[in-house]
Amino acid sequence: MTDKGFTQHSGRAVVVGGGSGMGQATADALLRAGYEVIIVGRSEQRLADAVRELGDGKLTALAADITDEQQVSRVFETVGVVDHVITTAADIRGSYGPLADFDFARGRGMIETKLIGSMLLAKHARLPETGSLTFVSGIAAYRPAPGGAMVAAVNAALEGLARALAVELSPRRVNAVSPGWVLTDIWDAMPWDDKDERLRAMAEKLPAQRLGRPDDIAAAVLSLIHNPFITGTVLHVDGGHRLV
Ligand SMILES: NC(=O)c1ccc[n+]([C@@H]2O[C@H](COP(=O)([O-])OP(=O)(O)OC[C@H]3O[C@@H](n4cnc5c(N)ncnc54)[C@H](OP(=O)(O)O)[C@@H]3O)[C@@H](O)[C@H]2O)c1
Repeated sequence: MTDKGFTQHSGRAVVVGGGSGMGQATADALLRAGYEVIIVGRSEQRLADAVRELGDGKLTALAADITDEQQVSRVFETVGVVDHVITTAADIRGSYGPLADFDFARGRGMIETKLIGSMLLAKHARLPETGSLTFVSGIAAYRPAPGGAMVAAVNAALEGLARALAVELSPRRVNAVSPGWVLTDIWDAMPWDDKDERLRAMAEKLPAQRLGRPDDIAAAVLSLIHNPFITGTVLHVDGGHRLV
């Protein structure tokens, strides 16, 4: 049976970061595929807006900060066993900037959310043996720009974590999707005054001749969680960005 072209699945999935951007698109795709979905993020307002927008009875929200182990543990006590856990969470504030002036007190949010947060999810998630965990890394690990050392390092580390956990949590599968530049609100947090110009220039440079859309990433996540022979892999969804 299909709904708007999606094969139907039963099961439950947690999407951390599901209140916006790629996470919201992933929650939407999972709902259309028949899953019961729980979205997680820090802002109750953002989650409530997403629940209203996606408007599906199989969607619920839980507010939690994944940098806090007690809150992560509470999420999984509340939701119990789920088939798939996906995290798109990142707090990029203060994470871009030249090394000489880098403020580690501000910039470590990226480590806490993407790396430690992902490890905490892996530790506390109650996944069945057929379950999966999917992280979202990013092109900065492969095409770093000056001032992007923290982001490059964390994305590369997250991919290493996916490989390590694919071994440690086997037969549960652990993968990462590495997006290129995708049009979401995350760009508003960049310290740029010529954002639109930079985004346009990148779209022209890419082999795909456009920037990514949140749905491109959601489709990649679903392909990973549904293929039982993919684990410990990084799936690049970057419009060919690594080639230019
Ligand atoms: N957009 C791009 O071009 C691009 C390119 C390469 C890689 N990426 C990566 O792709 C991922 C998704 O990005 P996006 O563009 O979809 O960004 P986004 O819309 O800003 O999504 C990030 C989500 O993470 C949640 N979050 C942040 N910190 C959290 C925490 N401590 N606990 C729980 N939830 C938290 C945020 O919600 P709250 O603020 O409410 O917590 C938000 O919903 C990120 O990891 C980003 O680094 C993005």
